[in-house]
Amino acid sequence: MTYSSSTVRVPDVAAVPRHIAIVMDGNGRWATQRRLPRVAGHTRGVDAVRAVVEACARTGVEYLTLFAFSSENWRRPMEEVSFLMRLFVTALEREVGKLHANGIRLRVVGDLSQFDARIQDLIRRAEAKTARNTRLTLTIAANYGGRWDILQAARKLAEQAARDGQVGAIDEQAFAEHLALSYAPEPDLFIRTGGDTRISNFLLWQLAYTEFYFTETFWPDFDAQSLADAIASYGRRERRFGRTSAQLEPQSQDVDSLPC
Ligand code: IPE
Ligand code: IPE
Ligand code: MG
Repeated sequence: MTYSSSTVRVPDVAAVPRHIAIVMDGNGRWATQRRLPRVAGHTRGVDAVRAVVEACARTGVEYLTLFAFSSENWRRPMEEVSFLMRLFVTALEREVGKLHANGIRLRVVGDLSQFDARIQDLIRRAEAKTARNTRLTLTIAANYGGRWDILQAARKLAEQAARDGQVGAIDEQAFAEHLALSYAPEPDLFIRTGGDTRISNFLLWQLAYTEFYFTETFWPDFDAQSLADAIASYGRRERRFGRTSAQLEPQSQDVDSLPC
């Protein structure tokens, strides 16, 4: 099943976002401020992940998608990349049992073929173990890029069209079914920590109508209260999806629907 596109059909919205996507940024600066090596910030970042996953599960958020490693992060110094890979392995080894015990389904999206076989195997096993959990779907975006995602979907659609010749059948729905996050509704709320105000090649297709929230807080300092602040800000937004404010008011909709 694929969720319908926000540009095709206006989605239902609630006070608590159903899907939150986060660019977890500022680990390096958090560490540098404390005269620690940058990688110390990544280690502390894992603690923040734990806190935010727990808070989302408690709050009733259904999907949490975390940007852990972008397709551009390979450009970093080799030692930092290797540290991040080791940290990913350790976190998978240590946390998957706990996620499972708490009813959390784990998914990892991105071009996983670039990871070594051991990491790929750990990911496959963690996904299989937690596959039937329904409380919260936690997605880790690793070696993920929004452009990679759109291209791999386009390639699959092109192959399909070459087989069946049905080019006209390629619509938003068909496209979204081939994206890495096809199992999730589009994010309601996008959060970026660390003070920068950019997407950095995260979910380019899916952010079409997402609400954005930027905070100066560095990721290792982002906690349950920070998440509550972001959700409170989201709760004050008016999501119009192209309509006017007046169209969102129930009584005006009644009036609009009266025959003249
Ligand atoms: C985000 O923190 C974590 C990853 C990109 C892996 P950074 O490492 O980008 O931290 P800053 O932005 O340099 O402070
Ligand atoms: C984005 O953070 C990627 C992740 C959080 C994994 P970066 O720190 O890599 O973003 P840029 O390169 O500064 O935009
Ligand atoms: Mg950064």
